[in-house]
Amino acid sequence: QDTALKDLIAHCKEYGFIFPSSEIYDGLAAVYDYGQLGVELKNNLRNYWWNAMTRLHQNIVGIDAAIFMHPLTWKASGHVDAFSDPLIDNKDSKKRYRADVLIEEQIEKYNEKIKKEVEKAQKRFGESFDRELFISTNPRIQEIASKRDALHKRYVKAMEENNLEELRQIILDEEIVCPISGTRNWTEVRYFNLMFETKLGSVAEEASLIYLRPETAQGIFVNFLNVYKTGRMKVPFGIAQTGKAFRNEIVARQFIFRMREFEQMEMQFFVKPGTEMEWYHYWKEERMKWHLSLGIPAEYYRFHDHDKLAHYANAACDIQFNFPFGFKELEGIHSRTDFDLANHEKYSGKKIQYFDPETNESYIPYVIETSIGLDRSFLAIMSFALREETLADGSTRVHLKLPYILAPIKVAVLPLVKKDGLPEKAKEVLELLKWDFMCAYDDKDSIGRRYRRQDATGTPFCVTIDHQTLDDNTVTLRDRDSLEQIRLPINEVHMYISDKLHI
Ligand code: GAP
Repeated sequence: QDTALKDLIAHCKEYGFIFPSSEIYDGLAAVYDYGQLGVELKNNLRNYWWNAMTRLHQNIVGIDAAIFMHPLTWKASGHVDAFSDPLIDNKDSKKRYRADVLIEEQIEKYNEKIKKEVEKAQKRFGESFDRELFISTNPRIQEIASKRDALHKRYVKAMEENNLEELRQIILDEEIVCPISGTRNWTEVRYFNLMFETKLGSVAEEASLIYLRPETAQGIFVNFLNVYKTGRMKVPFGIAQTGKAFRNEIVARQFIFRMREFEQMEMQFFVKPGTEMEWYHYWKEERMKWHLSLGIPAEYYRFHDHDKLAHYANAACDIQFNFPFGFKELEGIHSRTDFDLANHEKYSGKKIQYFDPETNESYIPYVIETSIGLDRSFLAIMSFALREETLADGSTRVHLKLPYILAPIKVAVLPLVKKDGLPEKAKEVLELLKWDFMCAYDDKDSIGRRYRRQDATGTPFCVTIDHQTLDDNTVTLRDRDSLEQIRLPINEVHMYISDKLHI
């Protein structure tokens, strides 16, 4: 698992997808920059989401709100008072950890133990092994599972009750050690707010404290009235937004999975109170369909219902993805009731209601939210796409099997050699294609090496210009996945590629 993630990080760096931020100064923890190919893939992914939301739904419109917002926004949303993690410090290593994450990892360890026992037995019994029967009857597994379940129950209760002392006690009782010092010498557990603060205004004494937004959703809520009125929207309707969000994450590991500066793609769907469960189920299915439309097999995804609902939610689940480090949250779908709009009404003193022309009633709509991390989706897709393959002739290649629609470069135009007029001819072909497809032109190195490079960056098609092209205006078109090569007249290449890419 670790190797898969390490290979992915190295690949992203080597081919210009992702670099550590300000790397010449040795980087900044949990902050990353997207390189020349990364930015294309990220833009494609954002557009794919945006189009699915806004173009395919007549009742969803987009906005782009500012990152800076009036500070009362975050009081109303509950972030000033409650957007915090429970932290614990190890007194020996002076390292800080999230108490909830330490406990969740411990629960995961029990699961790992069970998995190992099952694998051992599977090896021993071979063909005749009945997995379900073994799990439900083996005393050793029963013992581990009951410890795990007891821990889980105790943990959920402590989190629900905000019982920090109990969280600490669980860490002590479970004999969890600091991975750095190896000791169990812990401080008490304290809450730590995740919002970044900054000052607005140039004169220090008069400057007011503001926050970098920790989610894009509030930009939608505070614009509810504007959009509803100017867009003549009728409930049910949605507002979508993509943009940067900032959180001072303490556990910032696993590459771009958990970052301090990241991008969200969120949609708030406003519905009539009482209909929210129907819409919650609708959006669960709709979002899963969107993921599956990218062509990644269904077994990479699963729903995970929340054990512990946020104070504003009456139903919530995640869509989890099987990352190289296991199933983890990729997207959240939350039924947020009227919590946000009602609080903005309270704090702003403005009436934030919808007037229903059919019933002549005014009400505060309920909200179903879909919220996905753009960077986290990038990681999911890259981790699925990157593979090493052994070819028929025994050689290996690195193959980035990206969905066509997301591939940073759609077509590579390659003159076979850098002489005899082939580069000039290749540039003519490039001219025909570049208006509709992101193209790359490459005339360095042997053709084999250039193909390998395009395979490693996920380019679906390579068009090669050779000496025959000069005679009959045909080129070779090579397919990334099947490796098949066909010969086509130049004037058919555009149509062929459009067809394959469904553009
Ligand atoms: N408005 C609801 C909200 O922000 P969330 O579960 O805190 O909900 C939604 O975040 C999504 O944003 C997550 O499912 C994840 O994909 C992404 N996300 C959250 N924190 C992140 C971080 N530190 N780095 C990268 N992505 C993050």
